[in-house]
Amino acid sequence: MPEDEYPHYVEFRHVYKTFDRPVLKDVNFFVDAGQTLAIIGRSGVGKSVSLGHIMGFMKPDKGQVIVAYQDITQMSEQELRRIRKKVTMVFQSGALFDSLTVGENILFSLELREDYNEQNKEDVVNGLLEMVDLAHVKDLFPADLSTGYKRAVAIARALAAQPECILYDEPTTMVDPIMSDDLSNLMLRLKRQLALTSIVVTHDLDLMRKVADTVMFLYKNEAIYFGPVNELDKCQHPHVKQFLAMDRVEISGKIEEE
Ligand SMILES: Nc1ncnc2c1ncn2[C@@H]1O[C@H](COP(=O)(O)OP(=O)(O)OP(=O)(O)O)[C@@H](O)[C@H]1O
Ligand SMILES: [Mg+2]
Repeated sequence: MPEDEYPHYVEFRHVYKTFDRPVLKDVNFFVDAGQTLAIIGRSGVGKSVSLGHIMGFMKPDKGQVIVAYQDITQMSEQELRRIRKKVTMVFQSGALFDSLTVGENILFSLELREDYNEQNKEDVVNGLLEMVDLAHVKDLFPADLSTGYKRAVAIARALAAQPECILYDEPTTMVDPIMSDDLSNLMLRLKRQLALTSIVVTHDLDLMRKVADTVMFLYKNEAIYFGPVNELDKCQHPHVKQFLAMDRVEISGKIEEE
C-alpha cells in the first residue's frame, strides 16, 4: 500500500527550489486527508511556488513531493494528469470563460464526463451552484459578477471534478470583508461536508483561524513554523510575532502587493 510508505495525503520532504535565487530551502510539511493547511508568509516567499509543486507544474531541485499518497517528483505528464483529477486548484483570477454564463462555465468542466447524461449534468450544475449559494447567478456572465462571486464560481467549477483535495491561492484577497467571510464559511462547509483535503495560501489571518487545522509559515525560503494553528500564537520567532501583531488595516496592504 502506498499509504504505508507515504502516510500523509500531501507531503514535502526536504524540498529545495531555486530560480534566479533560492525560493524553497529544505521545506518540510504535510497535510492529512480531510485536513486544511494554511500557508502563510510575505509576498515572494514561495507560497504559490509550493502549490505549483503540488500540482506538478514545477519539480523540486532536490527532495520529494508526495501527493495523493504517491511520490510525484519524477512523474511524467501523463501520470500527473491522473493526480490532477484528484487534486485541483482554484486560481486567484477564477480563470472563468468570459463568453459563457456561470452555469455554462460549470457545465464546461462536466463535458468530458461520460458517466452523466445531459439531464444529470444540468442537475450537477444546479447542485454545485446551490452548494456555493449561487443558484441566483446561473445565467449571468463573469463580467457581471464581483471578484468574490467569481471566486465562488471557480470553486464550484473545481468541485465539478469531484476532487479529493483542493488548493486555494489567496481566495479572499481583493474582496470585501463580508464576502471574505462568506468565502471562508464556504470553504469550511466544503471541508466538513465533502471531507476535502485543502491547502490555502493566504494573508488573511481570520480565514486561517477559521478553516485551518495546521499552518506553515514561510520566511526567507524556510518554514519557520509548521504545526497546529492554535499553537501559532506560542511561536517565539520574531517574524511570526510581528505578522500576528499586524492589524487588519496593515494586512490590507496586501492589495498593494498584487
Ligand atoms: N516560473 C518561475 N520562474 C522563475 N521565477 C519564479 C517562477 N515562479 C516564481 N518565481 C519566483 O519565485 C519567488 C516566489 O514566488 P511565489 O509566486 O511563490 O511567491 P508568493 O509567496 O506566492 O508571493 P505572493 O504573496 O506575492 O503571491 C518569486 O521571487 C518569483 O519571482
Ligand atoms: Mg502567490
